Formats: sequence, structure tokens, C-alpha cells
Amino acid sequence: MYENSRLLIDSSNPPEPGQIVWRSPSNLAIIKYWGKHGVQLPRNPSLSLTLSASCTDTALAYEFREETDNRIDLEFLFHGEENESFRTKTLAFLESLTPQFPFLRQLKLRINTGNSFPHSAGIASSASSMASLALCLCSLEDALFGSLQDPGDFDQKASYLARLGSGSACRSIFPYASVWGATPAVPGSSDEYGVPAEDLLHPDFKDLHDDILIVSSREKTVSSRAGHALMEGNPFAEPRYAQAKNRMTRLVDALRGGDMDTFGKIAEDEALALHALMMCSNPSFMLLEPGTVALIQKIRAYRAETRHPVYFSLDAGPNIHLLYPGEIVAEVRGWIEEELKEHCVDGWFIQDWVGEGPEEM
Ligand code: PMV
Repeated sequence: MYENSRLLIDSSNPPEPGQIVWRSPSNLAIIKYWGKHGVQLPRNPSLSLTLSASCTDTALAYEFREETDNRIDLEFLFHGEENESFRTKTLAFLESLTPQFPFLRQLKLRINTGNSFPHSAGIASSASSMASLALCLCSLEDALFGSLQDPGDFDQKASYLARLGSGSACRSIFPYASVWGATPAVPGSSDEYGVPAEDLLHPDFKDLHDDILIVSSREKTVSSRAGHALMEGNPFAEPRYAQAKNRMTRLVDALRGGDMDTFGKIAEDEALALHALMMCSNPSFMLLEPGTVALIQKIRAYRAETRHPVYFSLDAGPNIHLLYPGEIVAEVRGWIEEELKEHCVDGWFIQDWVGEGPEEM
């Protein structure tokens, strides 16, 4: 939708060199996106909460190139060090964006990026890293051409670009929550980009914590690209897409009404559905670890015993996202220390919470 842009720098009036820095958080899907078609288009709508502590900082420095050719001139650093594999991926992404950003070939670019959490954490960093890069590109466009002055236009384009890098990244652009994928439950929603969903949230949901219990820090055994592709032959694919659409409507009602129990039930059912789909695909993948299952059982028992609204979610990996309202943070942290930490690698968990979204630094 933003293709065939004519944005080119006038070489008789080149810009001063500059630098743009964005910090973008990761997000946790409550309704999961699993299965895609075309160019990164989702098979079903998804809804996520925007996190705070798990984030990526990306600095994009640019300088006009007197001599241009057809390639993109990119220097790439990850935590201050060269990283050829990340550079290759980023370069391929930028090359794919030249229909939208033809001016990228007129610049010398230097990207320095890094995550707030160790790369080996087993936490997907693609959402936060692609979102921060997409935001830098939109700021660059605006700095050079003044063409993204409207905040709504800016966020929409950033979300669209982030989606092309990694589908779920398109939801990291917005504060508190975002919906991606056209659904009648959210007017204005689209398959092309995420939309802000803060307005759907009863105030109680703006104060949710999401502590990430690191059960394993190993790299995933299935990439999300391969996982999405396996949905094409999965016999449960169609009922799954119908289920996600239906749950979206129920979740939106629960979020508006402050219905924490329905929210928690849907969050847990979605996490288990995602893993069930992976287990039923061919080849099959089992990403849950014994520690994941032990934690799920402890969370359910604790909830039954204390009546506290504490729920779990999972990404495409073994680590548990523990969701609960801020008012019981002291008790829950005490319980994590006493009973849950023993299932985490070196007792490691990340304290995270639902937050205000990306910021320009
Ligand atoms: O954005 P991708 O292609 O890495 O897919 C991620 C999908 C899940 O994280 C498993 C679910 C979601 O909606 O974020």
C-alpha cells in the first residue's frame, strides 16, 4: 500500500548527516497469530499487550552519499559489535523496502541495535527489533521529506513496515495493546497493519504485570517462519482460524468490561492452542519443557487456592508469561521466589508489565 514511492533526495540540496534512536518494547499476544499467507498477511486477527522492560534500542545514523549505486550501504552493529548474520538479514529487509523507500540507496546507513535482555534468553526479539527499526525508518522519512507529520499516519506506516519484517512486530508500535488483522470486533482493524487498542481496555488491564519465567534459554527448535508454514497442511487449521475469530469478539468484550477471569481463560486457552497446533503439525514440534508443565500446574493450583487472578501465557517457546494485576505484585513476587524460581534457568525471571509503547530517545 505504500509501494512505488517517489521519495528521493534532491542531490543539489543534500541533508546534513543525522541520527535517530527509537526504543521499542516486545509484545505478548493474547489472541495468537499462527498461520499466514501472501506477504506476511495473517490468517486470523490477533490482539497483544505491549510490554515495557523487554525492549530493543535501535540507532540509525545516516549520511548522504555523493556516489550512489544500486546497493544499500549498511554498517551494522549488534551491542556495539559486528554481527554478519544480523547484518545480512537487516540488509535483505532494507532491500525489500526500496519500493517504499527508494532514498535508502542514496544514503550511507549505520545501524547500532541491542536488546534489554540477553540474546540467549529464549525470548523472541524480532517484534521489538523490527518495530524499533521500522520507527527509525519512518523518522528518517519524516526528517528528510516532512511527509509523516501526522502521528496517526506515522504509526500506521511504522506498523505496516514492522509487519513486513516480522508479523507480530506490527503490534509493538502502540501503547498498552494492539489489534492486527481485520475483525468486526474492532472497527478500523486491518490485515496490513496493527491498530491501537488502548481504548478497548478497562483501566484494570492497564496495570497488568507480565513476569517472564525463563524455563530454558536455548534457541527455539522451530523458527516462527517454519511454524506458520506448517499451518498450511495442518488438519486443524480452519477450525483454529474460526476459533481465534470467535475468541477475539469475546476477548474484546472482556477487556472493555474489566472481566479478568474471561481474559485469563482466553489467554491460557490461546497459549495451549498455539502449542497444540505445533504438536499436531507434520513434522510435529514440542516446545514445552517439563518445567513449563510444572509451572502451569502450580499456577492453576495457586489460583484455585488463593482466588488470585493469576494466569499464564506462552509464546512459541517454553517460557511462561505470568499475567496478574499490579495490586497483588508483592504477594505474587513472594510466591515466584518461593515456588516458581526453582523451575527457571539459574532462577532467572524478567519483571515486565504492560506499558506505554515505543519512545524516541
Ligand atoms: O511474528 P512472527 O512471525 O515471529 O510470529 C510470532 C507468532 C507468535 O509469537 C507465536 C504469536 C503472536 O501472535 O505473537
